[in-house]
Formats: sequence, C-alpha cells, structure tokens
Amino acid sequence: MGRMLEVLSANVSYGDMVALRDVSIYVQEGEAVCVIGPNGAGKSTLMTAIAGGVGLRSGHIRLNGESIAGVKPEDIAALGVTMVPEGRHVFGTLTVTDNLRIGGMLKSSSRQIADDIERTFEIFPRLRERSGSLAARLSGGEQQMLVVARGLMTRPRLMMIDEPSLGLAPMITEQIYHTVLEMRSRDGLTLLINEQSSERILKHADRIYVLRGGRVQLEDLAVNLRDGKAISQAYFGFHPQDEGAAS
Ligand SMILES: Nc1ncnc2c1ncn2[C@@H]1O[C@H](COP(=O)(O)OP(=O)(O)O)[C@@H](O)[C@H]1O
Ligand SMILES: [Mg+2]
Repeated sequence: MGRMLEVLSANVSYGDMVALRDVSIYVQEGEAVCVIGPNGAGKSTLMTAIAGGVGLRSGHIRLNGESIAGVKPEDIAALGVTMVPEGRHVFGTLTVTDNLRIGGMLKSSSRQIADDIERTFEIFPRLRERSGSLAARLSGGEQQMLVVARGLMTRPRLMMIDEPSLGLAPMITEQIYHTVLEMRSRDGLTLLINEQSSERILKHADRIYVLRGGRVQLEDLAVNLRDGKAISQAYFGFHPQDEGAAS
C-alpha cells in the first residue's frame, strides 16, 4: 500500500492564532484513518488545508507523491479529494436528488450523473425513499447521509469527513459508519475522518491520530488503542495515575 496522502510538518496560522504546529500525518491507499481531538484541536483546519482551503505557513502536503500545497481547492478536488465539512450543509430548498445532482456536476456528464445517483441510492436506500423530499425536511442522520452521498458523487479517491457523528444518536452514527466502510471496500475509497470522541470510531478505523492544541499527541493502529488509556492521556493531556493521586 502506497502513501496516498502525506502531510509533513504542517504549520497553519490564522493571523496570530496558531492552529497547527508541525503536524505530520499520512494515509495509505485504502486505509480508514481517524483524527480525534477536542474542540479547537485543529482537526477542521487540517482537513481544510489538505483540501486547499487554507494555506500552510510551512510544511508539505503530498498526494500520491506530488505536492499539492498551494494548489487551488477545485484542482485538488479534480485530483480525487473530497471533503465533507462539518455541519451537514445541504441545499435545504432542493430535493435530495437535486442535491446529489449538484455534487456530480463538478466532474461528470449528465449520463454519468444519473448512473451515479442510482449507485448512490443503492448504497443509501434511505435516500432513495426520500429522493423527492426537500433536504431541509430530512432528519439529522439523513442529512449526514446526504452530504456523504453528495461527496461520493464527485467520485473521490480520498474522502475526508469532518465530524460525521456530531449530534447524532449512536445508532444513526453506526449506520453511517457502516455505509461509509462499505463504500470503502466497494469502491476502493480511502478515508480520513475527524471525530471528537474515540468511542465509536475505534472499532471502525485502521489508524488513529490524537490531535490537541494543534499538535499530534499520539498516533497508532486502532487495535493498539482499544483500552482507551493512551487516547485519553493524549486527549486530555494528563497521566491516568494523576487522576488517582488527585482523588
Ligand atoms: N477562520 C478562522 N479564523 C481564526 N481562527 C480560527 C479559524 N478557524 C479556526 N480557528 C481557530 O483555530 C483553532 C483550531 O480550530 P479548528 O481547526 O476548527 O479545530 P477543531 O476542528 O479541532 O475544533 C481554534 O483555536 C480555532 O478557534
Ligand atoms: Mg472542527
């Protein structure tokens, strides 16, 4: 498996506010990698930087070995990188089908778009049931499915999803992960996913990065992190024994 994505010593600032400090991550082809971290850790900034939405102050980003730092977002998208931003931004006054059609317009002919919508409905049967509904009428879980499905319409190689489980019930989150991982095996998709909590992701991800204060605090295979101790230490920045000493 080659390294599809490599971020090397990335630094990103918003004015004086440093959001990423020497962040290095990689994603191998076919992997599902999760970045976990509290609010403000820099997760969205990292994804946005990869998608070309924010520039690096220093560092490198490589896609299949080629530098993409400084490349325009639409050109990065054309290379097969899709980001599903947090917040489930659907076009509320359009139907589910039209939301999907818009997702496909970036790349495909209308014939391909029709085929891709059909394929998307096979993966998300719930969206087929709701195909004529206005997107604003969907539940939160359905809207999350819709934005993921719309991302799929661009036929990505690398799909980045920012906090898909935010505000969703555990069962709905499970469904979404199930589908996303099915897409991975079906279409050979590579996944990078941000989450605030590791609970639900641990059993689905191949590898985990914990990001806090704009730094990578921990990286390991998910199987090595199952007991959660190393993650909470990295996430909260304390040692588990401190907890015992304090009580
Ligand atoms: N557009 C922006 N302008 C200024 N500061 C920002 C902007 N976006 C994010 N930040 C700051 O950068 C840091 C990282 O934010 P973000 O990447 O959104 O973290 P996360 O997604 O992990 O919650 C935070 O301190 C946040 O306040
Ligand atoms: Mg975020």
